[in-house]
Amino acid sequence: MMSPTNPEQDRYNLTAPEVLANPYPTYRRILLEDPVYWSDFFGGWYLMRYKDVAAAMQDRRISAKRPPISKLPESEQQKILPLLETLSKWILFCDPPEHTRLRGLFNKAFTPSMINSMAERIQALVNELIDAVYERGQIDIIHDLAYPMPAIVIAQMLGAKPEDHEQIKKWSSDLARFFGMFRMNPYVLTSAKQSIIEMTEYFRHIKEERRHAPQDDLISNLIFAQEKENSLDEDELLSNCIFLTFAGHETTTNLIANGLLALLKNPNQMQKLKDDPSLITTTVEEFLRYDSPVQRQARLAVEDLEIDGKQISKGQRLFLMIGAANRDPEQFLEPDKLDITRSENPHLAFGKGTHFCLGASLGRLEAQIAINTIVRRFRNLCLDTDQIEWHENPALRGMKSMPVAFKP
Ligand code: HEM
Repeated sequence: MMSPTNPEQDRYNLTAPEVLANPYPTYRRILLEDPVYWSDFFGGWYLMRYKDVAAAMQDRRISAKRPPISKLPESEQQKILPLLETLSKWILFCDPPEHTRLRGLFNKAFTPSMINSMAERIQALVNELIDAVYERGQIDIIHDLAYPMPAIVIAQMLGAKPEDHEQIKKWSSDLARFFGMFRMNPYVLTSAKQSIIEMTEYFRHIKEERRHAPQDDLISNLIFAQEKENSLDEDELLSNCIFLTFAGHETTTNLIANGLLALLKNPNQMQKLKDDPSLITTTVEEFLRYDSPVQRQARLAVEDLEIDGKQISKGQRLFLMIGAANRDPEQFLEPDKLDITRSENPHLAFGKGTHFCLGASLGRLEAQIAINTIVRRFRNLCLDTDQIEWHENPALRGMKSMPVAFKP
């Protein structure tokens, strides 16, 4: 039975600060009470169970092609057309056959050997960022390390210059705010539109440069794939460079910071990793499960369908709750326990099926290097605040800052 809902507020209050700070008890409550529930406030169905989320990710009746945010009035859509047009070309929002074509090109440009060859560069960058603040005995994990490292890595892969890092950060934050917007905010809409326009021009310029002087980087590979196969137009190329910039760092930042927070709150697990750094692979998988950087992905039903006795109508939006699925006791033993040696860990943090994260191996490598270096270099590491502030974004889970103290 669905209880009456108030369109001014989600029935489970998913945007309340205390729920954003720790959504897991609420997820468990929903899982027990109504695991496929309709939210008037968000204008969509919430799928909480692992089996429903995993199945929806692979169901052809459920499309990835959706408006980027729900309940955006037609009049507002008109004002941000350039933004919506660019987003509609993102691989994330495409279905086959467009998706198959784009994914084929991206797979060619994003090869495992290219990613593996980056380990040394990533390690050097992590060392450099830590060295810059080491003597202070205090570091803000997000501002000093977990944000700049993946941002610099992906920016360089796409041909951006390190000195443009702050500018890229602003553009990406504008987009993150747009995707996390759950109440109409004209300022957020305008700044996201402006940022998309500026980013498009930025990448157009890089593309022209690389076309004449290709280098051994991702953008040159993409241009090569585009020209050779003639199956990617200029707008698609530029639009997906923007997507890669965005997808390639906010998520990794939160993987590193949320993961480190989990270790600090579980000192026995921290000690285990210190004693045996080879546990880093299962540790990062456990971070991905335990506190997923991407908490939910949206989809659209393109046919009427039924999930757990609920009738989902064609055209309705679905929220696949990755964060809840990864804590589903039907799937994981002791799901609320952080266990860095967990061997069976089929988490959904990178999705499943067609849209499985293209940058998974890069994100994993970055997090493994960052976490192992932190654990190795910082003695007596502890949180240097009792007031953690989380971003007001139910989709991308991350802290605003994370000060820690240590003995150099
Ligand atoms: C490390 C943390 C990361 C997490 C948790 C993460 C998570 C995700 C998720 C949940 C999806 C969507 C799955 C779906 O809709 O079903 C996705 C897609 C994607 N991610 Fe990641 N991601 C991460 C890092 C990266 C990095 C570093 C890059 C690129 C450099 C990247 C590029 C992409 C791309 C291109 C897609 C779209 C794939 C497609 O639609 O075929 N991600 N990611």
